[in-house]
Amino acid sequence: MKHLLSIEELTATEISTLIDNAVTLKAERGYHSEQPLAGQTWGMIFTKSSTRTRVSFEVGVRELGGFPMFLSKNDIQLGRGEPIKDTARVLGRMVHGCIIRTFAQQDVVDFAEYSGIPTINALTDDEHPCQILADLLTVKEVLGGWEGKKIAFIGDGFSNMTISWMWAAKKLGFELAVAAPAAFQPTAEFLAKLDAPNVTVTTDPVLAAKGAHVINTDVWLSMGQEDQKDKEEAFGPFQVNAALLQNAAEGHVVLHCLPAYRGKEITEEVLEKHADVIFQEAENRLHAQKAILVALAKR
Ligand code: CP
Ligand code: NVA
Repeated sequence: MKHLLSIEELTATEISTLIDNAVTLKAERGYHSEQPLAGQTWGMIFTKSSTRTRVSFEVGVRELGGFPMFLSKNDIQLGRGEPIKDTARVLGRMVHGCIIRTFAQQDVVDFAEYSGIPTINALTDDEHPCQILADLLTVKEVLGGWEGKKIAFIGDGFSNMTISWMWAAKKLGFELAVAAPAAFQPTAEFLAKLDAPNVTVTTDPVLAAKGAHVINTDVWLSMGQEDQKDKEEAFGPFQVNAALLQNAAEGHVVLHCLPAYRGKEITEEVLEKHADVIFQEAENRLHAQKAILVALAKR
């Protein structure tokens, strides 16, 4: 593994190894005895807001012996139009790795290519691979694994979260049911490329939730879509609420990558009822990302 740019490009073995290593790192907690990032500086270019990703990467890099350098787009010339390939060629000569949160997936791909240093996708419009690895770690901890489990995703059917979940299902083989309004479903072109019979897409949230062991949701308006208020109108029936959860399997868990908008994609009641697992999921960002950093530091 040279970079972590997407779930799409990972193999099932790479995913499973990252999760297993995250379990070990979580058990160790805090500073890692081997300090694989000792003497290293890791850039963190963020052109979108973040709480969990920023904090978990800053803490994770430190716990592995490295120094995280947070670079908000407002503070670097990227925000004033300097091309990503120039930014990459500068940072590639000074830092040892880079974590990027931005809009276009191509920018992360270009950064990896032009910088030549290990590059991690910390969320783009196309994928949120670090989150999905933390979510899989949570599923493993809470349900013992994803084998034989039905996972439902209720909400925006073609967001970074859904796309990463669909690739995870393709790679790992679990049943994934996506329920989304007709206008917000994965395109036929994407589904043809995915080519995963274990991934189903419906406009019926009850059908997707039926017998599901994991019910997963995310914001209706992703970062960068804040002015698309009319988009939300289609999503009313796709709220994760107590009535919808009646259809899920006994002992089901609810995941939400956070931040959550109560009264929109999830109710206050459901979020608080499932808060233990949802915040365990948030904590797992740290452990999953430490596993990614260790893997990239070793290459
Ligand atoms: N889930 C997630 O990526 O959270 P942040 O936007 O706070 O980093
Ligand atoms: N789909 C959301 C995820 C936030 C962590 C967004 O892109 O805003």
